[in-house]
Amino acid sequence: MKKTLIIFSSVDGHTEKISKKISEYLAHTSSVNLVCLKEANKENLDNFDQIIIGASIRYGNYRKELFEYISKNIEILSKKENAFFSVNVVARKEEKNTKDTNPYISKFLNSTEWKPKMIDVFGGVVDYPSYKFLDKFMIRLIMYITKGPVDTNNRYEFTDWERVQKFSSLLS
Ligand SMILES: Cc1cc2nc3c(=O)[nH]c(=O)nc-3n(C[C@H](O)[C@H](O)[C@H](O)COP(=O)(O)O)c2cc1C
Repeated sequence: MKKTLIIFSSVDGHTEKISKKISEYLAHTSSVNLVCLKEANKENLDNFDQIIIGASIRYGNYRKELFEYISKNIEILSKKENAFFSVNVVARKEEKNTKDTNPYISKFLNSTEWKPKMIDVFGGVVDYPSYKFLDKFMIRLIMYITKGPVDTNNRYEFTDWERVQKFSSLLS
C-alpha cells in the first residue's frame, strides 16, 4: 500500500480540517500519517511514497517555519510524489481561486526552490466571533475593502469541499 504523509501548517485549525478530509479520502488507497508542521521533524520522509503539505495564510504570509522545513527537506521531498495546497480567503473569489490566479500560490512558489508536482488552493474561513479585537477589526477592514462579508456575528466558510475531494482523487 502507498504511504502518504500529510503535513499541515494551521493556526485556527481549518487547514488541519481540510488535511483530515484529504486523509480520509486517501485512506482507501494509502496508509496516511497526518502531522502538524511542528511535529513533522519527527517523521522520516524516506518512509513515505507521497508527501502533501498544506498551509494557511495570515496577514499575507505563510509561517516562516514552513519554508525552513521545506528547505531542510527539499532534496527528499522533490524525489517523492508530492503536492502543496494553500488555504486563504482571497481564494473565495472566483477569479483568484486557481493555482495560476491566486496570489498566495505565486508568493509560495517565489519563496521556495521546491516545485510541487501538484498544487491547489482552497478558500478558508472567516470566523469573526472567535477573533480577538484587533484581528476582528483588521479582518473586517480587509473584508470591507475586498467586498467580503462584514457581519462580525457570523462565521463564513469558503471551502469548496468538492474541490478538496477532486484534489484528493488526483493524489490517490
Ligand atoms: C489574523 C488573520 C489574518 C489573515 N490574513 C489573511 C490574508 O492576509 N489573506 C487571506 O487570504 N486570508 C487571510 N486570513 C484568512 C485565513 O487564511 C483563513 O482564516 C484560513 O482558514 C486559516 O486557516 P488555519 O485555520 O488553518 O490557520 C487571515 C485570518 C486571520 C485570522
